[in-house]
Amino acid sequence: MGFDEVARAVAGVPFMSPEQGRLVYDHVRTAQPTTVLELGTAHGVGAAYLAAGLEDNGEGRLTTVDFAGASYDPPPEAVLARAGVAGRVEIVREFSSYTWWLKEQVQARSDRAGNVEPLYDFVYLDGAKNWTIDGLAVVLVEKLLRPGGWLLMDDLDWSYAQDPGRDATDGIVHRELSAPERSEPHLRAVFDLIVAQHPSFTDLRVQDEWWGWARKAPGEPRRYSVETSRPLGALAAGALRRLKRRAQQRLRR
Ligand SMILES: C[S@@+](CC[C@H](N)C(=O)[O-])C[C@H]1O[C@@H](n2cnc3c(N)ncnc32)[C@H](O)[C@@H]1O
Repeated sequence: MGFDEVARAVAGVPFMSPEQGRLVYDHVRTAQPTTVLELGTAHGVGAAYLAAGLEDNGEGRLTTVDFAGASYDPPPEAVLARAGVAGRVEIVREFSSYTWWLKEQVQARSDRAGNVEPLYDFVYLDGAKNWTIDGLAVVLVEKLLRPGGWLLMDDLDWSYAQDPGRDATDGIVHRELSAPERSEPHLRAVFDLIVAQHPSFTDLRVQDEWWGWARKAPGEPRRYSVETSRPLGALAAGALRRLKRRAQQRLRR
């Protein structure tokens, strides 16, 4: 199989770049998860890279979840088949949101005393980018993640204001959001205020201001690191954006 072969098979299909694909593929190869969950399938490019890692490990299954009504051309079934990894993947398109699917999983794996049997070694969250949806998603994901497992969140610095031409993103109507809800990155708030403060997630890494990694290791000393592989100019632009946002927040108070 191999990374390059999959990269060639999915070339030109949105939404994951080969560089990002390398990141998730390498994680799968290094961490050797046996059960992987992706929230947000789209065309299945991310799923192809994740499944390629499993294929090269020689074991493991990926479950990938999207809206019941999600429709993409090419569809994920075709992209995964073209990449030669369809056999490793279950595609779920059952509910209006992965939050309800997660609720079903937690319910099915809970006993009457409230203990949950975890299932996943790696969860890749790449869906709504919304405080309300993903804030709930990460709480449910934590229950399903095995100790030692990783959560990876994409799009940490994305905000609705970055897409001014769009009326709605994944069902969220931009004009119905308040000014701070439009300008502030929702996933950064989910990562900093929910994931990083959760007692279970103790190893926290922000990579290139865009990727949030969190390892479920309850009881271990809490660590939060910031890593970058981007040129200085890109970092400075990100820092400027954040400073501008904070100044706007202070003005509103
Ligand atoms: C950026 S795309 C995913 C890209 C994909 N992970 C990849 O790497 O190729 C985001 C996907 O999340 C899905 N999505 C957004 N909100 C969702 C929700 N609440 N429930 C289920 N799927 C959702 C969208 O339909 C879309 O297909």
